[in-house]
Amino acid sequence: QPHKPPTPSSTNRTDSRAVVTREMCEARGCCFIPVSSSSTSSSSSSPSGRHGIPWCFYPEGFGSYSLVSVNDTALGEEGRLVRDTKTYYPGDIMTLHLEIRHETNTRLRVRITDPSNSRFEVPITVPNATTKADSPTYSVELSKEPFGLIVKRLSTGTVLLNTTVAPLFYADQFLQFSSSLPSRFIYGLGEHRSTFLHNIQWTTLTMWARDKAPGPDGEMTNLYGAHPFYLAMEEGGDAHGFFLLNSNAMDVALQPAPALTWRTIGGILDFYVFLGPDPSSVVSQYLEVIGSPAMPVYWALGYHLCRWGYDSSNATWDVVKSMRNYGIPQDVQWNDIDYMQRFMDFTYDPSRFSTLPELVKDLHFHGQRYVMILDPGISSTEPAGSYSPYDEGLKRGVFINDSDGNTLIGKVWPGLTAYPDFSSDVTHEWWYDNLKRFHEKVPFDGLWIDMNEPSNFLDGSTNGCPSSSLEDPPYTPGILGGLLRSKTLCATAQQKISVHYNVHSLYGLMEAKASASALQRIAGKRPFVISRSSFPSQGMYSGHWLGDNRSQWKDLYASIAGIMTFNLLGIPLVGADICGFGEEPQEEMCVRWTQLGAFYPFTRNHNGIDMKPQDPTAFSPLARTAMRQALLLRYSLFPILYTLFHHAHVQGHTVARPLMFEFPGDVKTYGIDRQFLWGKGLLVTPVVDPGVDYVVGYFPAGLWYDYYTVSLPHSHRHSENNGVLRLQAPLDKINLHLREGVIIPTQRPNITLWVSSGQPLHLVSALSEDGSASGDLFWDDGESIDTYETNQYAYIVFDVTQVRCAALRPPCFVLILSTAEPDRVLVNSQDAAFTYRANQVRPS
Ligand code: GLC
Repeated sequence: QPHKPPTPSSTNRTDSRAVVTREMCEARGCCFIPVSSSSTSSSSSSPSGRHGIPWCFYPEGFGSYSLVSVNDTALGEEGRLVRDTKTYYPGDIMTLHLEIRHETNTRLRVRITDPSNSRFEVPITVPNATTKADSPTYSVELSKEPFGLIVKRLSTGTVLLNTTVAPLFYADQFLQFSSSLPSRFIYGLGEHRSTFLHNIQWTTLTMWARDKAPGPDGEMTNLYGAHPFYLAMEEGGDAHGFFLLNSNAMDVALQPAPALTWRTIGGILDFYVFLGPDPSSVVSQYLEVIGSPAMPVYWALGYHLCRWGYDSSNATWDVVKSMRNYGIPQDVQWNDIDYMQRFMDFTYDPSRFSTLPELVKDLHFHGQRYVMILDPGISSTEPAGSYSPYDEGLKRGVFINDSDGNTLIGKVWPGLTAYPDFSSDVTHEWWYDNLKRFHEKVPFDGLWIDMNEPSNFLDGSTNGCPSSSLEDPPYTPGILGGLLRSKTLCATAQQKISVHYNVHSLYGLMEAKASASALQRIAGKRPFVISRSSFPSQGMYSGHWLGDNRSQWKDLYASIAGIMTFNLLGIPLVGADICGFGEEPQEEMCVRWTQLGAFYPFTRNHNGIDMKPQDPTAFSPLARTAMRQALLLRYSLFPILYTLFHHAHVQGHTVARPLMFEFPGDVKTYGIDRQFLWGKGLLVTPVVDPGVDYVVGYFPAGLWYDYYTVSLPHSHRHSENNGVLRLQAPLDKINLHLREGVIIPTQRPNITLWVSSGQPLHLVSALSEDGSASGDLFWDDGESIDTYETNQYAYIVFDVTQVRCAALRPPCFVLILSTAEPDRVLVNSQDAAFTYRANQVRPS
């Protein structure tokens, strides 16, 4: 029997793990069993029990809802849930409406709402199913007394969801349900610093957007974004997904049963189950609901250079020039808040950054781009009439108000600030007007939207926050700081569509939407936006970086899990600050990080203030050359990377892909987060440890070709070590392998992608044992809006028996990797000359 979910251990809101006593527990009708020290090997003792095992839990038969009526509907069923005893939370909703929608054959939706009062619902657009799925791959069983739902996969009988394991709570500010899990293999549930595979040993993941640098080790606080979605593996390699469409502060408690408890403090229960059955299909099905990622502008995939602490535009310019001199690829130069006048949005410092317009002009002249930061906080203390973003914002009513209807004032870099309410269209228009005006002075190309949790150096506001059940709810999830208002706005703050309590975690999403649409209107091209805070649907408007990491090897390693997780959350354009934001990297680490970063879908080196420079030009010739090589390698792979983003946009695929997505039948891949794939066939095995010249990788079944030597490093059949291979990894090398059966388009690299794109196309084809391989290329002008949707693109499929080169980009070189010499090579049905380099092949 699965463990029951923990009760909130205390009404002490500053620490949800505060000590629970037998009296408190039993007063709630719960069971109290302290975990004895003999039942665990750990000597650590947390207040709620060793290893987080709750001492206080629900007994069998604890009061819940009964399903008192069920009817068929056009989409499935609906029913009435009733409870006759109140819980210990105020505002129990005693009667609920249940709706089960068989939306597609692989998508089930369940909504539990209050039939008498409307409650907050997340304002993202989801598909509106009108007909019932004709042959669903799932079954839904309803348990009446107490109410529960059991969802099974029809083909295997696997129980994917079983909410009968614990009581349902549906009070005004406390909604909780639990389910068993079919396995311990569960992924997603961002944003936290975590391994890719979650640890279900009593791990509670709290979601509430928060300005918090990730780490240190073991600390899994709520971070910048909130993503209540998980993907889970089942016995036999099937996968399913679960999405709770809810934006309130919540806990997800993972338990070793295996089981999981959702505990949210507002909104409704509205959830989806995705049947896959493979991990990639689960993600595609999830993205059909929340929206697929935008197709990035081509230069988004180039190398970005940034730091906090360029003293001037000339200092920024010097680095750009130095990069050019050394022939190091760079598409985009960024500026942090340094460029602003007293850190105020839509200004630039007239003395230190006087040459900023010229710098941007020069970047454009060299085919490069410029991105600048914007924070949401708008300075509120400039003399009236001197800072129009604030004056006009006030006039147009764009700012978030406090509960009395006055502009809420917090504090960020410029000092006291007001916060734009991006839930209002009026604010979007005001944002656009400011951007347009500034763009006329400094023709920036993209936006970095930071501090949008939103961050506040004060808790709540300059006036604190009123006393209210929104500020001090009956239960507060395990939020860092213990209060909803910790380092953000008051929960009672008023926004156009609701109180901040409900929409807090949507701030980054709504700001990204406003920013992307403004950029598109200004430049008429695909917008480029990178956001710190994120929520489901974010990928439609922006990419993301993993926030304020440190220059440490463990941060380098953790970034791999981070980028894989965001790929399955629908934000494939993601990276971590290469070489680390806080602290200073040693040269070796920065080289290794640049090599790994060359395979982040979004690749940016960013550095904290007062740290010594860590751009490639700051290092020894040896290190610099290794970094240059890694970036040139990325630039040579641009055609395949761009094509993968096309598939993310159109089919909801991942770009940086966990191995288990391609090998769901191989349990050994389930925990891998030191290696990852690009698409289905390019395996990246970075060095994540100091002082080594080798790396150990796992190679699932099949042939894998060494990308550089074209030799076969490993064939699973002959493997003596179950696919585990030790590879040479001198400082100037990142291991890269091509999977059999894959063709990837590449190009000769140059220092910008634009220049590279005029280069001949190469096809690298890794034959499988039966001699076949295939691949594809998506190509367009790289920046026009909706080229796929309006048919302004080329899409070419390559097949090894029929290799066709893109007519738009001749000439074409084809490199075919195979285990045996081919008899003939036909080009357009004619015999063609070819060279076979037998000595390159060294089967293991
Ligand atoms: C935040 C950002 C960081 C930025 C800094 C200054 O800490 O996460 O990337 O450099 O603010 O703007």
